[in-house]
Amino acid sequence: MTKIAIVTGSSRGLGRNTALNIARQGSDVVVTYHSQADAALAVVAEVEALGRKAVALQLDAGNVTTFPAFVERLRQALRDTWQRDSFDHLVNNAGHGDMASIAETSEAQFDALVNVHFKGVFFLTQALLPLMADGGRIVNISSGLTRISYPGFAAYSAVKGAVEVLSVYLAKELGSRGIAVNTVAPGAIETDFLGGAVRDLPDLNKVFADMTTLGRVGVPGDIGPMIASLLGEENRWINAQRIEVSGGQTI
Ligand SMILES: NC(=O)c1ccc[n+]([C@@H]2O[C@H](COP(=O)([O-])OP(=O)(O)OC[C@H]3O[C@@H](n4cnc5c(N)ncnc54)[C@H](OP(=O)(O)O)[C@@H]3O)[C@@H](O)[C@H]2O)c1
Repeated sequence: MTKIAIVTGSSRGLGRNTALNIARQGSDVVVTYHSQADAALAVVAEVEALGRKAVALQLDAGNVTTFPAFVERLRQALRDTWQRDSFDHLVNNAGHGDMASIAETSEAQFDALVNVHFKGVFFLTQALLPLMADGGRIVNISSGLTRISYPGFAAYSAVKGAVEVLSVYLAKELGSRGIAVNTVAPGAIETDFLGGAVRDLPDLNKVFADMTTLGRVGVPGDIGPMIASLLGEENRWINAQRIEVSGGQTI
């Protein structure tokens, strides 16, 4: 049976590239977006052009009160498009960047990062587990910034660190269902993240390129195929791992 993967935040950036590579690998995709419905529909069209099925669903990953309605929309989409009541793979990717020193981080900035990148991942996964098929996979997206420190990313990196710990506990608790859970930690990637800062600010781009053994920052195509491969049958025995995909950032 064709596998179905949910990739949160797949209207743009790393999530979009991941969704397309999952489709190239032969699976169908549930694309989620926060505000950019048109971008999500464009990804659906690209997946369909690859010969796979896709739907786009709105998700606010930072607001747990919206999750029951999201799960209902997902159930409906699974029934209508796949005549199924389950899906196979979950990639928790949705998120935003925010940069402030510890001294200047506001409670609102902190709460938004916690809500989207940690609380949201925890409770969305909890809400989706009853719909996930046994033998499924979960990939949580963290960041290279949990291993190295860069001023301005304290709150962001701390919540990503929490997700890494959560991944190991998910793997432990879900092993009896045959569900493997891993974390992918990308280095600096040229996307819209942080207002496109890594892509559009030459000085910042150079800082991260200089930290990177392969001599440049990453692009979405450096990450998406790797995440998709973690969902493939050939990588079924990888479990409870944090895999950094950064071209060798600060080694
Ligand atoms: N880029 C990097 O350097 C880098 C490095 C390490 C880790 N990461 C992580 O990689 C993931 C993807 O980042 P990216 O670089 O691809 O960013 P991006 O290009 O800005 O894309 C962000 C995606 O997440 C969605 N999103 C944002 N806030 C959301 C929310 N509150 N609820 C639901 N969806 C939301 C966006 O939806 P809309 O299009 O509808 O707005 C979009 O699809 C994030 O978890 C980020 O922390 C990024």
